[in-house]
Amino acid sequence: MNFPDWVTYIQQRTETALQTILPAASLAPCRLHEAMRYAALGGGKRIRSLLVHATGSSFTHAKPEQLDRAACAVELIHAYSLIHDDLPCMDDDKLRRGKPTVHVEYDEATALLAGDALQTLAFQVLAETSVSATAAGQIEAILLLAQAAGSHGMAGGQAIDIASAGHEITREVLESMHVRKTGALVRAAVLIGARAGEGVLDNRRQRLDHYAKRIGLLYQVVDDILDAASDTATLGKTAGKDASNGKPTYVSLLGLTDARRFAEDLLSEAHEALAPLGERASRLHELADFISHRAF
Ligand code: IPE
Ligand code: IPE
Ligand code: MG
Ligand code: MG
Ligand code: MG
Repeated sequence: MNFPDWVTYIQQRTETALQTILPAASLAPCRLHEAMRYAALGGGKRIRSLLVHATGSSFTHAKPEQLDRAACAVELIHAYSLIHDDLPCMDDDKLRRGKPTVHVEYDEATALLAGDALQTLAFQVLAETSVSATAAGQIEAILLLAQAAGSHGMAGGQAIDIASAGHEITREVLESMHVRKTGALVRAAVLIGARAGEGVLDNRRQRLDHYAKRIGLLYQVVDDILDAASDTATLGKTAGKDASNGKPTYVSLLGLTDARRFAEDLLSEAHEALAPLGERASRLHELADFISHRAF
């Protein structure tokens, strides 16, 4: 299958799997379930799901259904992080994936609770369905997701982001913020994919981890660039928000040209990390290019 067709195929699989996993909107409490479905379905590039599938199917002999469940767990955490990221107390955004944000469409309390419930649903999915061939592998997948989402990962990065607004920070602090707030979950998608099925042996796992760290940081550097250089209609979220919120970004620190140069360096490093893995890593090479050159 060529790359664009494969992307569409996995995006559709993810949508279908999430449809089943998410509680029906007709179930009480209906408004909460409706908001959870509103946030998690019908949008998003599904990059994290693509990474789980690419890694798992190329390296672990995992069944596609196992990878669907692992991918959904990561996408549920991501959807929760976006709801909370958009709240008035965080970035105060009104548009996400081309639609009103959850707190605008519903209300703040519902948005808060929908985020909470999506987060716990992610762990429920990993706890009650098979992702790995072994119990130890299954627990490791749960641990990887918890670490990526928690105070040393996404939530911690978001805390640094909020504390940094309106301040100048060093390049070191900026990198550690980006590695946590976005890099950690992107990295977890690769590592959980590598933990699925029969798992990946140590040597190759290290290469995959190195790749995952580079594309995790790259993901947020490109997000910074797009916020500054693209427009609201293309992004499906309000452009220029980092500058108006006083957020330190790679663009505010380095300027657009050097931020783009840094992104190119990270992309090269990601490809280099995969080099010893040969043909099997071809989807991951393609995904690195996709992340780097995406328009939204
Ligand atoms: C946006 O993530 C927020 C970041 C972590 C950079 P995505 O760009 O992956 O958002 P969707 O899922 O495609 O909407
Ligand atoms: C997103 O960072 C980080 C998380 C959602 C964890 P941003 O605040 O830059 O994401 P967007 O630009 O709103 O999607
Ligand atoms: Mg933010
Ligand atoms: Mg934001
Ligand atoms: Mg952004």
